Amino acid sequence: MIYLDHAATTPLHPEVAAVMYDVMQKCYGNPSTTYTIGREARELLENARKQVADLICAQPEEIIFTSGGTESDFLALWGVVCSHKEQGSKKGRGSHIITSSIEHHAVLNNSANLAKYLDCTVTYLPVDGDGLIDPADVKQAIRSDTTLISIMHANNEIGTIEPIEEIASIAREEGVPFHIDAVQTVGHIPVDVNKLGVDLLSLSGHKFYGPKGVGALYVRQGTPFTSLLQGGGQERGYRSGTENLPGIVGLGKAAVIAQRDMEKEQQRLEKLRDALIKGIEEQIPGARLNGHRTKRLPHNVNFAFPNIEGESLLLGLDLQGIAVSSGSACSTGSEEPSHVLRALGGLPDQYLNGAIRMTLGRSNTEEDITTVIEALATLVKKLNQLFSS
Ligand SMILES: Cc1ncc(COP(=O)(O)O)c(C=O)c1O
Repeated sequence: MIYLDHAATTPLHPEVAAVMYDVMQKCYGNPSTTYTIGREARELLENARKQVADLICAQPEEIIFTSGGTESDFLALWGVVCSHKEQGSKKGRGSHIITSSIEHHAVLNNSANLAKYLDCTVTYLPVDGDGLIDPADVKQAIRSDTTLISIMHANNEIGTIEPIEEIASIAREEGVPFHIDAVQTVGHIPVDVNKLGVDLLSLSGHKFYGPKGVGALYVRQGTPFTSLLQGGGQERGYRSGTENLPGIVGLGKAAVIAQRDMEKEQQRLEKLRDALIKGIEEQIPGARLNGHRTKRLPHNVNFAFPNIEGESLLLGLDLQGIAVSSGSACSTGSEEPSHVLRALGGLPDQYLNGAIRMTLGRSNTEEDITTVIEALATLVKKLNQLFSS
């Protein structure tokens, strides 16, 4: 099988599996207890916190472990908005949030809930034809009651990398906390919270060869933020609940491996990505690359084909042992064209349902790329003949 859906999830790295197995077998202590096995568990937890912090150039005390990207996004949005109320600020309930129209539903739907339950107003910024947000639009959207800006680092469907540093400098100038959903970038490209200038960042283990159901939220010291998940006071009171130690240790290990292998793997994948793009453009008439050509994740390829259903391509390729996605995994099964493709504006209607996303990873080789180009070209030709006859 050729797996080309690494943006949906990645296989567990064998070195990650090994440390997790070890912890599951031997370290059942609760990190909040003070006898020996509890202290051992605490040590593993804090070691993983440092490993995750190192990957994004943060301080360990700025990392909160969560159950993944969705929870990190939720905590970031609600945690910042609710904290203003706590501080007696006029902001908070009824305040203003800026985000974009191409965010993951974890951000879009939580923003909608903040509007529904806390009377917040949400500005959804548009993107250009490549999926890029214009920092000038961010500046223009900021109001005196703006509580939070939340923009994704890179888009999960089309792979476009947003101008985060520029947006961050605007946010800082205006004194508005800035959250990025970096679920698709952390572990794949260098991410330095200080260089980027962000205040909060979401990441998720299963997107970079770590376990599913574990992630982290980075919160810069001094950022207005309050706890929402109340209970035993774990994670410095910001996220109660007995910690998922095997998962967290696995996340830490995945962070170390990502840092160790990143430069080489990024270059290798960029080459494969560019070969795949070139092959498709040369061999399939009408194929349209979605997303920015260069400001793009090293492993993302997204093409639309006119008058063809992405779902037919997905199934046709699956029959040949090739796993791709017809959009984001989260919206698979929905009949609606992707909200990201719609937001690109200018994408002709006949392309809207015919997109497939191919996201590369560790297991992929040059031979895979040759096989996929051939299989896809043959399939598109067949489907075109079928529908035109
Ligand atoms: C950009 C982005 N944000 C958030 C998420 C949600 O992450 P998780 O699956 O860890 O909840 C995803 C997953 O697809 C994603 O791509």
